[in-house]
Amino acid sequence: MSSYRLEDLKQYSDTLRTRQGEAFNVRFIEPGDTDEIKHYFRSLSTRSRYNRFFGALSELPKGLLNEFLQVGERERFTVVATMMVDGFETIVAEARYAFHGETSTLEFGLSVDDRWQGHGIATALLKNLECRAAALGAEHIFGDTLRSNQTMISLARKSGFAFVNHPDDWKLVRFDKEIDVAPKDIPCASWRLAALSRQADSPSASA
Ligand SMILES: CC(C)(COP(=O)(O)OP(=O)(O)OC[C@H]1O[C@@H](n2cnc3c(N)ncnc32)[C@H](O)[C@@H]1OP(=O)(O)O)[C@@H](O)C(=O)NCCC(=O)NCCS
Repeated sequence: MSSYRLEDLKQYSDTLRTRQGEAFNVRFIEPGDTDEIKHYFRSLSTRSRYNRFFGALSELPKGLLNEFLQVGERERFTVVATMMVDGFETIVAEARYAFHGETSTLEFGLSVDDRWQGHGIATALLKNLECRAAALGAEHIFGDTLRSNQTMISLARKSGFAFVNHPDDWKLVRFDKEIDVAPKDIPCASWRLAALSRQADSPSASA
């Protein structure tokens, strides 16, 4: 996956909808998003930032910012959800995910701009992450959240995740779901592209 080329990244974009039917775009982060993603995290409420990073941060530390801007490096990826607001493409949510090949699992964390919470953005983004996980070959998708984060716990429950204790930290709870994306639906670009490349690799494809 570290073979991703910048000019190819846009083809992995998807258009999703809020509960009210407004369209938003989910795409890999790009170097040109640096200022916008810094602004996004700075504008999150203290509580949302705390829940996202499990600690008090006023903004993304430089090291973490650099990690956020890397796509495909060590099978780690950042996607941003954007909407046109007053004529500008604006980040309204983000998710970072890592594919663990040895366990065929995909781990993720996400956040939604406080002004856009409660519109179904995370629900749609989670479905999209499941599809991206399937495209990478993951069999399970999981995340960790603070036990006190009732919103995330409720969202995970409604999205069909099961809960287990975190292996190392009693303050966290882990939510986990078996990946079940029906290929016939092909609900995300990553899945479609992975299916095409599998087809091209299969011996019968050359026949
Ligand atoms: C958790 C979070 C991602 C949810 O995003 P969202 O886009 O608001 O979620 P949705 O609108 O899709 O809502 C999904 C469900 O979450 C729950 N939920 C959403 N907002 C809620 C609120 N203010 N209070 C309680 N539950 C809430 C509800 O169960 C909701 O389902 P419903 O609308 O059918 O009742 C968002 O609150 C957030 O970014 N929080 C800060 C970062 C964070 O906690 N990240 C998770 C740890 S990695």
